[in-house]
Amino acid sequence: QALDGFIAGMPKTELHLHIEGTLEPELMFALAQRNQVALPYASVEDLRAAYNFSDLQSFLDLYYAGANVLRTEQDFYDMTAAYIARAQADNVRHAEIFFDPQTHTERGIPIATVFAGIAGALRDARRRDGFGSAMIMSFLRHLSEEDAFATLEAALPLRDQYEDLWLGIGLDSSERGNPPEKFERVYARCRELGFRLVAHAGEEGPAAYVIGALDVLHVERIDHGVRSEEDPALMQRLAQQRTPLTVCPLSNLKLCVVKDMAEHNIARLLDAGLAVTVNSDDPAYFGGYMTANYHAIARSLDLSRAQVLQLARNGIEACFLSEEDKSILM
Ligand code: ADE
Ligand code: ZN
Repeated sequence: QALDGFIAGMPKTELHLHIEGTLEPELMFALAQRNQVALPYASVEDLRAAYNFSDLQSFLDLYYAGANVLRTEQDFYDMTAAYIARAQADNVRHAEIFFDPQTHTERGIPIATVFAGIAGALRDARRRDGFGSAMIMSFLRHLSEEDAFATLEAALPLRDQYEDLWLGIGLDSSERGNPPEKFERVYARCRELGFRLVAHAGEEGPAAYVIGALDVLHVERIDHGVRSEEDPALMQRLAQQRTPLTVCPLSNLKLCVVKDMAEHNIARLLDAGLAVTVNSDDPAYFGGYMTANYHAIARSLDLSRAQVLQLARNGIEACFLSEEDKSILM
């Protein structure tokens, strides 16, 4: 297909990427060995074979277990450097990366270790190749708001040291039963502090969670948001405001948010005028990075070149760069 080559070569932004979700089985085994951590799998093949998910929670259980091999600053650096190499192979020019400190601090890893490893790799790539990036610290919504506040307090002393990278706050993990309203106060505090705000909403949870993220948390982007389609008034609002949705097609397929890629609503959302973008979420677990996500929807939904270009343009419009820096990506 001619469009495949066009997609591969097209400059891209990535706005929905969990760095812990880029840990490939090979690196997981290497880090397990380096840190003398036992893995409940005999081989890389055994581990990959376990990547068969029925819903978000069945994935999260493996994802948090896999993160247990991450212990040192070097581990976080190596994972991030490996992601950057994969992103650059897909012509990603700018990536805004989620990280989940609570997954690590719960295991006794200092939050400063997490920041230093991820930021070190991002800064080296920026210096070496001009690879653009930002860090979005995400709260785990299955934990309490009090726990989120404690994480924010632990991270704030690092803000000056990482002011070039740490721009935003996100909300992820088990969506159903953990509505945005649970984090109203900590988001209000983050807003006062001047952080850019995003949240996962409308992946497994209802359209009402998207409305909550907008009206109660005051986020400027919605991560996933595909269930917004169930509320026509919300759809109109998202189109009118050009609120970006960071959609993750292969993730939605693997986590059974859609049964078949041919049923994915990304083309309908795009055609309704929403600022939808394409992203990889947890590419080591879901079977593909940015180009693979574009290829999957282009084939299954028979996208035109104009639709593909609009998705990529939306990715530039939706990113946290200044208008001047966006124009360089265009
Ligand atoms: N953490 C990592 N990936 C996630 C996803 N797709 N939804 C919610 N939490 C996540
Ligand atoms: Zn996600």
